[in-house]
Amino acid sequence: MTHALDITIDEYLEIERTYVDAELQRILPPEDEYPQSIHRAMRYSVFAGGKRLRPILCLEAGRLFGTNERPLLRLAAALELIHTYSLVHDDLPALDNDDLRRGKPTNHRVFGEALAILAGDALLTLAFETVAASGLAPPERQARLVKDLAHAVGTRGMVGGQVVDLAAAAHAEENSGAGPPDSVTLHYIHAAKTGSLICAALRTGALAAGASEGDVERISAYGAKVGLAFQIADDLLDVLGSSESLGKAVGKDGRQHKSTYPALHGVEESQRIAARLVDEARAVLAPYEERGRRLGEMAHYLITRQR
Ligand code: FPP
Ligand code: MG
Repeated sequence: MTHALDITIDEYLEIERTYVDAELQRILPPEDEYPQSIHRAMRYSVFAGGKRLRPILCLEAGRLFGTNERPLLRLAAALELIHTYSLVHDDLPALDNDDLRRGKPTNHRVFGEALAILAGDALLTLAFETVAASGLAPPERQARLVKDLAHAVGTRGMVGGQVVDLAAAAHAEENSGAGPPDSVTLHYIHAAKTGSLICAALRTGALAAGASEGDVERISAYGAKVGLAFQIADDLLDVLGSSESLGKAVGKDGRQHKSTYPALHGVEESQRIAARLVDEARAVLAPYEERGRRLGEMAHYLITRQR
């Protein structure tokens, strides 16, 4: 919403969060709309206190290439709906079986498993309805954007990464003592399950603004690097962070035999890898000079955040 560069990154994130939240309020069916139970469940997780990082990255990419209009905001909000669906499903007993998310009981703990599954389904569906009806012109641009977004969250992106993540954890559990997977598999899991959506947020933001192919690829390269760095930071927070500030259990990755960078590379080397990725991501932005400053700051924020 703001272009002012003289406010801190924290102030900037707060303003953007409010801007995204207002759009999410408009998009989600009201709690009293029939059937009320599903709308309550959807809203519960969307408004549970997320940082809105994917929408903010999308908005910033759109602005970098000259758009700051309503269709961009709708797209940004849709990304948060997809992100929230992935968290609701990730927390289910059949997946990570978590009781706490963003400092609150997880969706299935409040609404039951069946409704949590359906709330996730409905959030994903609503996201694509929102993008398809965003009014982005020309229509070919909108179609391309929908295709790229779907690709990023399907089996060649987020869902694929989640599948391999679960398979690796099951393998480690069955073969007690087996360590994390090899570095190529670990890289795939992180880049796919988390990096894909973050990268798509940036890529679709650039597409919405009608950026050139070269710029779309450049911003996607930045997105792939910060997306991977973000998940490494998430792994590190599970080891080094506190459950109070994270709003979820810590130390669970180890207990669940999760494939993580600290488990394979150790804490310090993981910190170095994440920092290197952020440096590389910032270097990708160099041609945009001052216009890319916020994205450069965001890259740094993504690995230094405490929650
Ligand atoms: C925290 O984001 C989320 C992650 C680190 C992503 C983990 C990946 C998944 C849960 C993929 C799940 C996929 C399927 C298909 C179920 P965040 O720190 O931005 O959370 P916030 O929104 O609460 O701030
Ligand atoms: Mg998981």
